[in-house]
Amino acid sequence: MIKKIGIIGAGTMGSGIAQVAATAGCVVKLFDLNQAALDKAKASLEKIMTRLVEKGRIESEEKMRIQRNISYVNSLKELADSDLTIEAIVENLDIKKKVFQELESYVSDACIIASNTSSLSIASIASSLQNPERCVGIHFFNPAPLMKLVEVIPAIQTSGEVLKISEETIKSWKKVVAVAKDTPGFIVNRVARPFYGEALRIYEEGIADFVTIDFAMKSVGGFKMGPFELMDFIGNDVNYTVTETVFTAFYYDPRYKPAFTQKRFAEAGYLGRKTGRGFYDYSEGTVRPEP
Ligand code: NAI
Repeated sequence: MIKKIGIIGAGTMGSGIAQVAATAGCVVKLFDLNQAALDKAKASLEKIMTRLVEKGRIESEEKMRIQRNISYVNSLKELADSDLTIEAIVENLDIKKKVFQELESYVSDACIIASNTSSLSIASIASSLQNPERCVGIHFFNPAPLMKLVEVIPAIQTSGEVLKISEETIKSWKKVVAVAKDTPGFIVNRVARPFYGEALRIYEEGIADFVTIDFAMKSVGGFKMGPFELMDFIGNDVNYTVTETVFTAFYYDPRYKPAFTQKRFAEAGYLGRKTGRGFYDYSEGTVRPEP
């Protein structure tokens, strides 16, 4: 029975996953090195929960129950009694490996250690552990509380038991599971690379501006968000890193080649909604395109 959840990284994904687990009745500890990220996650949950109460989606007792289920901690050691940990920190293999090694020294042998990575190899993350059979990919989509699908990715080292418990746990959180092989980008992020990649190339070649591309994909393509809106939503830093990782992992297959525009946006700090400016400008509460 998986009841105690440790989440590592209180950013966009970690805070969303914490909300999902707490709503399902789990006791959650949300860890981040950065106190500001913890404060932001707490404040943002309060806002989301208040809105849900106002809309009549949940009772205020339910709001209080969910919020009570989450504690915010600034030491990895606090996650020692977890049944399952899900890591959602920066998309960097070396940093993830270091955190996993430290984490394993605190948790019990029965604890499942999962990563929410979008594109890194679960096998290589697992290899940092003394007991790699306990490692699995559990990949949520953004925003985690709203997106139904979760990819569960066993590495070649992952035990059948760990895969089974992971699938059952995520289903008990009212999500739909797709089990994917441990290949770059898994299912969705691999399919999504050309969606962003071609849109960026069309923009760079001057065939259309990004507002027009977004408009076309929404009105004719039936997408809820155009590729540029989606890149701003995901974060241009995160999305660029994922593209670069998938490109490298596929031995530089040109189908996955990153675009310079995306790299420049990431370098400039034009990360999208989270920094108030990306392809669109979100700073004054209105959304208008950057020149
Ligand atoms: P984010 O930048 O919003 O949050 C990352 C958090 O991790 C930050 O609060 C940072 O302070 C913290 N952090 C960094 N290094 C740390 C460390 N060593 N120990 C503890 N905390 C640390 O990033 P986001 O978007 O939440 O992504 C996190 C992971 O989830 C990445 O692996 C990403 O590829 C994956 N992911 C992202 C999605 C997205 O749409 N943004 C969707 C699905 C997966």
